[in-house]
Amino acid sequence: MCGIAGIASLEDISERLVGSIRNLEYRGYDSCGIALVNGSKAIRVSKNIGTVDEVGAKENFSKLKGSLGIAHARWATHGKVTKANAHPHTSCGKGFSITHNGIISNYTNIKAGLLKLGHKFSSETDTEVIVHLVEEYYKKLKSVEQAFVSALRDLDGSFAIALVTKHEPGRIYCARFESPLLIGLGDDANYIGSDFSAFIQHTKNAVFLEDGEYSIVTHDSHCIKRISTGETVSRPVQELKWDPEMAQKGGFPHYMLKEIYEQPQIVQNALDIDRKLILGFAKIALEKSRLYITGVGTTFYVAQLGQYYFSQYAGLTPMVISSDEFRFLAQVDKNCAVLALSQSGETYDTLTALRHAKSMKATTAAIVNVMGSSMARMVDHLILQQSGPEICVISTKAALSQMIILARVVLEVGVMNKRITLKQAKTFEKEIGQLPGAIEKILNEKSGFIHSIAKTHSKIRHWLFLGRGRYYPIARESALKMKEVAYVHAEGMPSGFLKHGTIALIDDRLNSVIFTPPEEEKQLYELTLSSAEEIKARGGYLLGITFKSRSKEPLPFTDQIVLPEAPPFIAPFLEMVVAQLLSYFTATTLKRNIDRPRSLAKSVTVA
Ligand code: AGP
Repeated sequence: MCGIAGIASLEDISERLVGSIRNLEYRGYDSCGIALVNGSKAIRVSKNIGTVDEVGAKENFSKLKGSLGIAHARWATHGKVTKANAHPHTSCGKGFSITHNGIISNYTNIKAGLLKLGHKFSSETDTEVIVHLVEEYYKKLKSVEQAFVSALRDLDGSFAIALVTKHEPGRIYCARFESPLLIGLGDDANYIGSDFSAFIQHTKNAVFLEDGEYSIVTHDSHCIKRISTGETVSRPVQELKWDPEMAQKGGFPHYMLKEIYEQPQIVQNALDIDRKLILGFAKIALEKSRLYITGVGTTFYVAQLGQYYFSQYAGLTPMVISSDEFRFLAQVDKNCAVLALSQSGETYDTLTALRHAKSMKATTAAIVNVMGSSMARMVDHLILQQSGPEICVISTKAALSQMIILARVVLEVGVMNKRITLKQAKTFEKEIGQLPGAIEKILNEKSGFIHSIAKTHSKIRHWLFLGRGRYYPIARESALKMKEVAYVHAEGMPSGFLKHGTIALIDDRLNSVIFTPPEEEKQLYELTLSSAEEIKARGGYLLGITFKSRSKEPLPFTDQIVLPEAPPFIAPFLEMVVAQLLSYFTATTLKRNIDRPRSLAKSVTVA
């Protein structure tokens, strides 16, 4: 939610800075701006509403020059989407400019005090109080560093902050508390960013700020200090494992499609994760008397799917709680293990759940995609997904990767728990190994048909996604995909639940999709079909996603997408890929903003 970038150099960095903020745009894209310092005379701020390219054209970004600067891509939280509310914000005397990500919860009190002192505010944001506060302290303390730190100490809430000042034109001041910020160390310049994509085109060497730390970054140096004490912290430089090319579209029209097509490789990457890490978590899960799995949005549905796999193959039923509700429901103590799932590793709700678990002395673990993210650094046991950057706001490949990793954990627990034999576990693992090929086949052979179904039904405003057992979380995840990328109302529910009320909605304005298991899961298959019959009997449109072996029977579907035969263990993953494509093609037909759907942000770092 919002992206911050900054560059300190001795040469003109304006073009590079615009590039940095463009790369961070997936974090927020309702407005953006940059502040450039060129010597000690003035800070030049340019900002407006719109994407980086729109604002760049309106505000003539190409004409700007400067050797040090900060930039921001905004996703509005406090204050409407207006030019005045866009970042950077500048102090009354124009000596300081600031960008901020997060929420300052005590900003109304601070603002009241500053108004009394004569400060004039030009925006409705919480951020603007910070820059006036720094200016106020600077008047008294005559030191930028002391003014910056004093202001930081007054703030409640969460923040990643970058500040430039004409009083020290060669320095970027930055700080973090519960909102990510890292420093990139280059040959001729140093960088800051909300994540690696701000600077990975220029350097892979990074230093991560921790909560409660600030840094002063120049073109050839950086230092890290604690906000509370001013004491210097030494932190090793880490090498980022991702390549700049991994964050490019590579010929696909959208990142979403590219990331769907990357899934065969992503499954392989998940299978390549060191077994020791998987075993390590499996042991924790078994040792503790209670296991919780938490996540939110897509990762909640991944957790739910994990719950079904744990139950069916490992004889364990973990508690699965959406992370936004975790504190209000979970009874956590030192006998519990809490596993969090998060692509970004920065989601506020999931971080809060983990913090709660830690405060109650539970053992914490996480499956996270982003190296160095807050979750990656705070948990007792970490499994890094190795899915590469997921740029589209809609999660596809990262979710599938989490499912595979969870399935691997389940197999280890299943063997330790004696619910399955080692031989069975190996067979299931081999079946996962068939997934890359099977997904590729679907992508190559079924995309055209799925596209035509999406086109034919693009005017439908309501979809119902149905599944039983392990297909139920898949149905919920698929409904979420349809909502967030196509802006089409969709619900996911257990197909057995349908007859308990929702069936009243079946008519020609509502379409249904049903996920059917393969032949071997006889009971599940028959139960699923009986729900399908209920829809057929009421004349509703029903799209069946089914497997080869059953496709010859007279099935109660209006249309069917027939997949090549697959073992039950991996079948739900394959059906999910079909639903990803259905949402994607519905959204492209409706000309939606695929990679940056309205009102959404890649990592939701607010409550
Ligand atoms: C996924 O398509 C959504 N954009 C959203 O539900 C997301 O999964 C959720 O916000 C959790 O994000 P995280 O994986 O970064 O923690």
